[in-house]
Amino acid sequence: MAVKIVVGLQYGDEGKGRASHYESKKALVVIRATGGANAGHTVVANGKKYAMHLLPSSIIRPEVISLIGPGVVADIKILAEEITQMREAGVQIEYNNFGISERAHLVLPHHKQLDRLYEMLKREKVGTTGRGIGPAYEEKARRTNLRMYDLLQGEKHLVSKLEENLKVYEFLAEKANEFIKEYNLEETIFPRICVEEEYQHCLKYISVIREFIGDISEEIDYAITRGDIIIEGAQSFWLDNDHGDYPMSTSSNPNASGTASGAGIGPTLVDEVIGVMKAYTSRVGNGPFVCKIDGEVSEQLRKLGGEYGTTTGRPRDVGWLDLVMINHAKNPSGLTCLCVNHLDTIGKFDTIPVCVAYRYKGKEIQRVPIDKEKCKPVYRNFKGGWSTKGATSFEELPKEAQDYINFIEEYVGVPVKYIGIGPDEKQTIIKQS
Ligand code: GDP
Ligand code: IMO
Ligand code: MG
Repeated sequence: MAVKIVVGLQYGDEGKGRASHYESKKALVVIRATGGANAGHTVVANGKKYAMHLLPSSIIRPEVISLIGPGVVADIKILAEEITQMREAGVQIEYNNFGISERAHLVLPHHKQLDRLYEMLKREKVGTTGRGIGPAYEEKARRTNLRMYDLLQGEKHLVSKLEENLKVYEFLAEKANEFIKEYNLEETIFPRICVEEEYQHCLKYISVIREFIGDISEEIDYAITRGDIIIEGAQSFWLDNDHGDYPMSTSSNPNASGTASGAGIGPTLVDEVIGVMKAYTSRVGNGPFVCKIDGEVSEQLRKLGGEYGTTTGRPRDVGWLDLVMINHAKNPSGLTCLCVNHLDTIGKFDTIPVCVAYRYKGKEIQRVPIDKEKCKPVYRNFKGGWSTKGATSFEELPKEAQDYINFIEEYVGVPVKYIGIGPDEKQTIIKQS
């Protein structure tokens, strides 16, 4: 019996979905805990590729109870469509293997418009996924947003909640449209979204999700004394609104503690925190990226790693592995082990630079300062040119690949538990159990 948290240590897309799915093999319950459809979690299993935005990656294991926790902001359209598509792909999603917390918040059409509006007004664009995440968390903090619970309380209740919730949008949209006209901006006008429209939107998708909405703490209480619980994080430490690259961050707390909170499990009950990282770095959206590379080498890495966003299809920026970032995230995350993915991808380079310090204000440091954008990387080169093909154990990996992993362990001071040598669940090496 153990509670395990799976979190990202870089800028998202480290392979949390594959790690969580792998861990869910022996689990009773898996909970998706924070963020919303800004996430894109890929699992390659049984010869198929699945891309999940809101459903926990355990959903493809019908024997596991998959839950959406109170910390999530869920776009009901995307959720309903994802459920339908998964079912069409043969995945079982029934009352007995899936649940949505009645406390989880809704993302509605006006949130996406607000996401666009805030980006329009920002001098330095965050490069959000446009999925309405920031505005949904903002309205949650403002205590006007709707929750899953509200969908089940009948027409009068829902309409009155929507009326209150839409007031600020109506006000802002009108002002924004005046602004667009005044400055002749090439921006699409913000539509009037009336209460009836969002009410009809809710009605359209509620039939698919209604049966799953409830108090998921019952399932957690049941599972906690009987088997493993996996808490599937989204986004990452460096996108965390408190600990990451604020304001180039997401609007939630995807660090390990925020993830536990989003699931509804207290810190003393957590046994493992699995920090997921790639053997290099990628970032989608804007913000500081100390080890970013450009030109032909970046193109090569992007292609080799398939670095195109699961959610937006945007090409991801790529760079070498930044161990200063990982090490900095160690204690705030309470890491107990690491999962290092894409060891196959990075091995295709003959020489692999790894960032072991930052040059900052004339000094060499091994911490990440708040003005990270002022840092320059100090690299140590590793010998690459390896192939991980066919390896089934750490000992079967080429010596150079082993050295690379051993160095990560040594630098961060946290054991590597899993190594990804390809996207398929079978291409997972267990280093330490
Ligand atoms: P998440 O958001 O953290 O779940 O990660 P994503 O699914 O968005 O992005 C990770 C990408 O890398 C996906 O396309 C995975 O299929 C792929 N992937 C994960 N681990 C490995 C690995 O070890 N090797 C290779 N080549 N691909 C991997
Ligand atoms: P997973 O769970 C990568 C990034 C966006 C943007 C910033 C804010 O798949 O790892 P938002 O839409 O959240 O307001 O955007 O955060 N971002 C992600 N990048 N993977 C993700 O999720 C992300 N979720 C948000 O690109 O820079
Ligand atoms: Mg992703």
